[in-house]
Amino acid sequence: MEMKTDSRPWGDVETDWLVVGVAERDRLSEGVADLDERLGGQLARLREAGDFAGKPAEQLAVHDVPGIAASRLLLVGLGNQDELTVARLRKAMQAAARKVSAKKDISVAVAVADAGLLTAADSARVVAIAFGVGCVGQDSYRAEPQHFLLKRVTLLTHSGGDESAVTEGVHRGKIIAGAINLTRELVNRPAAEIYPESFAARAESLANKCGLACEVLDAERLKTEKMEALLAVAAGSDRPPRVVVLQHGGETDGPTLVLVGKGVTFDSGGLSIKTSEGMTTMKCDMAGAATVLGAMTAIARLKLPVKVRAYMGLVENMVSGSSYKLGDVLTAHNGTTIEVLNTDAEGRLVLADVLSYAVDQGADKLIDLATLTGACVVALGEEVTGAFTNDDGWCARVLAAAETCGEDAWQLPMLDLYDELIKSDVADIKNIGGRWGGASTAAKFLERFVGETPWVHLDIAGPSFASTNQAHREGGATGCMVATLVEVAEHFSGK
Ligand code: BES
Ligand code: MN
Ligand code: ZN
Repeated sequence: MEMKTDSRPWGDVETDWLVVGVAERDRLSEGVADLDERLGGQLARLREAGDFAGKPAEQLAVHDVPGIAASRLLLVGLGNQDELTVARLRKAMQAAARKVSAKKDISVAVAVADAGLLTAADSARVVAIAFGVGCVGQDSYRAEPQHFLLKRVTLLTHSGGDESAVTEGVHRGKIIAGAINLTRELVNRPAAEIYPESFAARAESLANKCGLACEVLDAERLKTEKMEALLAVAAGSDRPPRVVVLQHGGETDGPTLVLVGKGVTFDSGGLSIKTSEGMTTMKCDMAGAATVLGAMTAIARLKLPVKVRAYMGLVENMVSGSSYKLGDVLTAHNGTTIEVLNTDAEGRLVLADVLSYAVDQGADKLIDLATLTGACVVALGEEVTGAFTNDDGWCARVLAAAETCGEDAWQLPMLDLYDELIKSDVADIKNIGGRWGGASTAAKFLERFVGETPWVHLDIAGPSFASTNQAHREGGATGCMVATLVEVAEHFSGK
């Protein structure tokens, strides 16, 4: 999808839709006032009549606009200008993108009349992400698509604005949107298509395209590396497991940022089988791995001057005569023994091996992403990522990056008392911690496998997969935290 910038007056730009983001305020801002003059005062009249106030999520389509070169005008509300956040701008613009992409061969020009405190580059990046993501729905399996890529998206700069900053913002936004859409596509595809081998093959081909180093570890190799916990989860499936390792910036001196993703390509629960309802969306249980893969493609395409290594633990959790069983005692890669008391608490077993393997290979800072617990969704709701850490300073930086990107995340406790709940009578630890505090006991379990490395665990069980369509986003995979990971990498210095 072509995206470019244009510095002409908004009314001069020929396009199917002119989309203008407008704040809620008493008077029209400069660009809008110019436009209104061309429209003979139509905008001021709409405002006076109370038909468009600029409130968040408000949209008004004007089809009859003879005074300007565009065929139609779409006003989108941004709310109070002083409170405009990245999240609100993205929501408003993504809703606009979803509306205008319902038809084929559409060109759009976008102006943000009131960007508040956001810089021109930041608002350009957000608009590019919103249009890149908003035009792509879940159409892979539909005879009649509901969304079409736009023919062209033109970002209109303000007169006297810094055009090169805007161009750079668009460039970055376009790459990040591509990464988010990749993650969404992988998560949305059914488990019959995305299983450990096919995921690994896709990762390998993307790595070749983007210039990432790629290594794929097969079951034989995982045995050699003593990843008994991961292999136990995979044992019930006809699909053999894989671990994919990607590296960006290997030639760069300096510290290594390590990303780890849970890639359970389908979670039936194993012998502790889920209900039909609980299993319905479990193709999404590889969202952690897909998020890490998406972020790595963007980090490579942006040529960020940092060293980043990524590990994706890929297994299918199934029921068969070879399934792992309750009461099994597994020895993880780092020698820790684990008593299995629920085969549906499989994500932490996969991550146990992959985290300790990643730490062995050298990690200065670590982040893992996983659709780990229903308990985290109960605690924070469907839209918010849970954050857990052994290093508050590192966590603060990850949370700051999330805030910059407009992604909601909230830190949850890692108190010593949770350790008591995962003590086992027969092994070092057990894989469930009882009824309460499930998101924290899962995180405390993972902590056993990261050693002294500063680490943040992001539980994305809620926000990675949306249950319903909304004006600003399609139901299904969201690609949450891809932008945040790219932002973390961009500012990574190891300190
Ligand atoms: N993949 C699930 C967690 C999940 C739940 C992801 C809902 C997305 C939406 C995970 O493997 C799981 O089954 N967790 C159990 C843990 C329990 C058995 C201790 C859970 O949350 O119920
Ligand atoms: Mn499970
Ligand atoms: Zn799972």
